[in-house]
Amino acid sequence: MSSMSRDGCIDYRDALIMKRLSEFSYVLLVTGGKGGVGKSTIASTAALILSQSSNRTGLLDLDLNGPSACLLLGVDESPMEAEDGLIPPSVGGVKVMSVDLFAKGRPLPLTGGAKEEVVKEMMALTSFGRLDYLVVDTPPGTGDELLTITRLTKQVGGAIVVTTSSPLSISVARRVIEILGSMNYRIIGVVENMSRGEDDSLSRRLAAEAGVESLGAIPFDAEIMVGGGKKGPEKLLSTVFARSLREKLRKAGLKVV
Ligand SMILES: Nc1ncnc2c1ncn2[C@@H]1O[C@H](COP(=O)(O)OP(=O)(O)OP(=O)(O)O)[C@@H](O)[C@H]1O
Ligand SMILES: [Mg+2]
Repeated sequence: MSSMSRDGCIDYRDALIMKRLSEFSYVLLVTGGKGGVGKSTIASTAALILSQSSNRTGLLDLDLNGPSACLLLGVDESPMEAEDGLIPPSVGGVKVMSVDLFAKGRPLPLTGGAKEEVVKEMMALTSFGRLDYLVVDTPPGTGDELLTITRLTKQVGGAIVVTTSSPLSISVARRVIEILGSMNYRIIGVVENMSRGEDDSLSRRLAAEAGVESLGAIPFDAEIMVGGGKKGPEKLLSTVFARSLREKLRKAGLKVV
């Protein structure tokens, strides 16, 4: 099946993307709308946890303007070119694909339609192979990256919506939930991140009003901010943050030991 691209031509990447998608058992979208709420940290750590639980796992970093996965996980190898596409480098058993593997810290001034093109290129060209989980990190906002990936992965995907307890973050998360809902995208649950132990009633109320599950709160954990990717996957996995996230993933029904 091929669709029309923006210039009115048939887009032959669609068939390749469908083939890639058929190799993934589940696509876990980590989103939330508001910037800086912990989407990338949660996506990267969730990928490590899933891999540690014997799942074949990939991480697709779709933050094209501010990619974080490579820095968070300490990945600096380049993808390998093979007949079947680009083989992503692995860390902690997770195959990582990000524009930063090519941009190497330089900015990518992409806008609008160009972003949709890059998302489709990444989906078409990356040879993740068979995966139990493809975790997708999304940028802040509800722009082209989020809309393109939700459209592509609707049949095999579920989203975790990340927010903090701040009313501002909650209001943006509500809009994200509405957009995902209007696209019939499955929402696994809402996670409140960086909780300081106060009551999590705002995120719970958001989940209840939207008719989705509340997965609870992940505590603020100063440990994860120290050292970034240089700490390595083991250090990241041993944090209070990771222990709490593991529990949320289990609650969401993901295969986590
Ligand atoms: N539970 C937590 N406790 C303490 N710090 C945290 C926690 N979760 C995330 N952080 C920190 O918050 C900052 C923002 O996290 P992160 O980059 O993952 O957010 P983001 O939602 O992906 O941001 P952006 O919208 O810019 O992509 C980072 O410095 C990260 O280390
Ligand atoms: Mg991010």
